[in-house]
Parts: sequence; structure tokens; C-alpha cells
Amino acid sequence: MKKLLVLTGGGDCPGLNAVIRGIAKRIRKEKDWEVYGSKEAFNGVFSDPPELIKLTRSRTAGIHVRGGTILKTTNKGNPTNFAVKQPDGSVKFVDRSDELIKRIKDLGFDAVINIGGDGSQKISQALFKKGLNVIGVPKTIDNDLSATDMTFGFQTAVQIATDSFDKLVTTAESHDRVMIMEVMGRDAGWIALHTAIAGGAEICLIPEIPYDIHKLVRRIQSRYKNGHGFVNIVISEGAKPKDGTITSSQGSQGSEHVRLGGVAFQLSKQLKEAGCTAEIRETVLGHVQRGGSPTAFDRVLATVFGVHAAELLLQQKFGRMVTLKNNVVSSVTLEEATANYNFVSKDGYLVKAARGLGISFGD
Ligand code: F6P
Repeated sequence: MKKLLVLTGGGDCPGLNAVIRGIAKRIRKEKDWEVYGSKEAFNGVFSDPPELIKLTRSRTAGIHVRGGTILKTTNKGNPTNFAVKQPDGSVKFVDRSDELIKRIKDLGFDAVINIGGDGSQKISQALFKKGLNVIGVPKTIDNDLSATDMTFGFQTAVQIATDSFDKLVTTAESHDRVMIMEVMGRDAGWIALHTAIAGGAEICLIPEIPYDIHKLVRRIQSRYKNGHGFVNIVISEGAKPKDGTITSSQGSQGSEHVRLGGVAFQLSKQLKEAGCTAEIRETVLGHVQRGGSPTAFDRVLATVFGVHAAELLLQQKFGRMVTLKNNVVSSVTLEEATANYNFVSKDGYLVKAARGLGISFGD
């Protein structure tokens, strides 16, 4: 009997369970394969005893509807740069990839499907280069992987952000206020841009287009007559002023990323300092964007990715990541998968449409 190990790494994302179910259902059709999940990315393999669960029919039935991941996840389990606590309390980063590969092989696994974003797929690539049979499935609400036109979770995040934005519009209007809503996305403004168009924002601030605070103040003031008016702003967590830097706080030790967040408050302060007299309120949407049930679209995309990853496994096509390009589900090498970041194009159709509607990017 051959054995497959599945894991989810990095931040969670609506649709992860649908991928797990897609893989498990497809693999269970094969008489000579069994499928297991590792708890909390590769940490389940490092645990003594290992924390692995067999992905039986009863464990995966109906899970495509649920948010999160039944396998749990972490953005602190990079085996190539693993945080190990020292006796004196300090932390040392060590490369445990050889040990990990040995453990996986000793446990009898023939291949691994790693479901994760760019950080996770860089790990997949490193392990593949060292001889592990790995297949990647892309995941991120940020939609920042250039190898695929879309990642599951993104559409759900945009829907949640848009629903929240709609609610802020009515209260902004009632109080003649400026409402700033901060969304996730890291260095890519996809969630903000889609939400701004879907919700009808006056201003959309994204990392790819640094803003001029004075232009924003003028735009806001132009929306007020005799003290009455309102403005709704969507700002991406990685947005920055023309002469400024992003707002971040250091993540905990061993974390994949520096933590972003807080630009809504920074923008509010900058607007006031630049002379904006309107009343301003800030909303940081945060992790609600990643929570709850995936939309039907994301369930479908995640399921398709899962089944395709299982097909790649059966064809022994390792070292590849599943993609969706021009309506075709295919795959690229893990190296290609992580080579380029998917930034919003300043000349792309979305920015053009937004400008056509009169949405200001503050540039
Ligand atoms: O990459 C997905 C994402 O949700 C980003 O949009 C956000 O900056 C980050 O993860 C938050 O990570 P954490 O779960 O560590 O707070």
C-alpha cells in the first residue's frame, strides 16, 4: 500500500477543507493508496509520537462547507528555518529539513501534498530539491501568487470585506463621516481594489500606488457641502504614502512574515494633520476576512485544485504546483510557482475601471 501525506501551512484560508476533501476523495478511489494528514503543517511529523490522522470517509465527509482547516496550520513551522528553544530560553533557528525528510520516509510516506501560500511553496521547493516527492496546492486570501490567476479564499475574503463595507456606507452617510476600512492583502492590493469597486468606495489605497495625503484631503473636502457629506475609504494593510513606509509590527519569533496592520489609524492621523476637518472613524477588518464558510466559487476552485493535485500524484508529477491559468487547470514547477509576486497592475482593467468610476487612488 502506498501512502500520501497532506498538510496545510501558513495562515488559514476558506477552502482548505474543500481541498483536503477533494484530494482524499480522489485518492480513496485508488485501491493501492492511503491518505493521511499531518497536524499543524509539518509539526505533526516532528511530534513524538507523530500527530497524523487517516483521512477516512467519515473524517472528510461534508468538510468542504467549513472554514479553517481540520488539519490545523501554523506560519511558524518552516523546517528549513525551525525555531528551537534553547535551555537558556533564547531561540535558535536550525535547518531540520533532512531530519523531516527522513521522518516522512521512515513513516512510510511516498509523497506529500503541501497546501499553502508562497512561503509554504518555497518550503515545498526546498524539500523537493532534497529528494522528497512534493506537490503544491496554492492558497491565500491575498491572491498574490502570479503563477495562478486565482487562489481559493480570495473571493470569500472580498465578499466578507464588501458586506462589511456596505454596512459602513450607511453609517457614514447618517453621521456625515469619513469611514476608513482596512483590509488584508500584504503587498498586493487585490482585496482592497475588488472591495472598492464592489462597494462603491470614493477612495481606494493600495500598496502598488503610493498616495499623496494632500490630494486625499482635497478629494474628501470636495464631497462635503455646508458640513454635509460622507466618504468611504478602503485601504489595504500594505498601503503607504508617497514619502512614507508601511505600518508594521514585528511578528512573533519564527513567524513567516512581519505582521502588518494599523494603516487605517495612520491614515486617519495623517488626514487630520493635513487639515481634514471631517469626522473620521476607522475599522480594521482583520481575521474575519479569513474566517467562516467559503463561497460556492471558492469551494469549487478548492475542490478542483485538490482533485488535480491527486491526479498529479497518480501521474508521479512531483515538484509541481497546481494552477488555474486562462480557465485551464494545470501546474507549474515549484520554482516557477514562487518566482514572481502578483502585484496589482497600475494599467490593468480593474484600476482603469475604478478610475473610470471616479475612485481616487490618491496619486
Ligand atoms: O497572507 C494572508 C494574511 O491573512 C495576510 O493578508 C495578513 O497580513 C496575514 O496573513 C496575517 O497573518 P497572521 O495570521 O499571522 O496574523
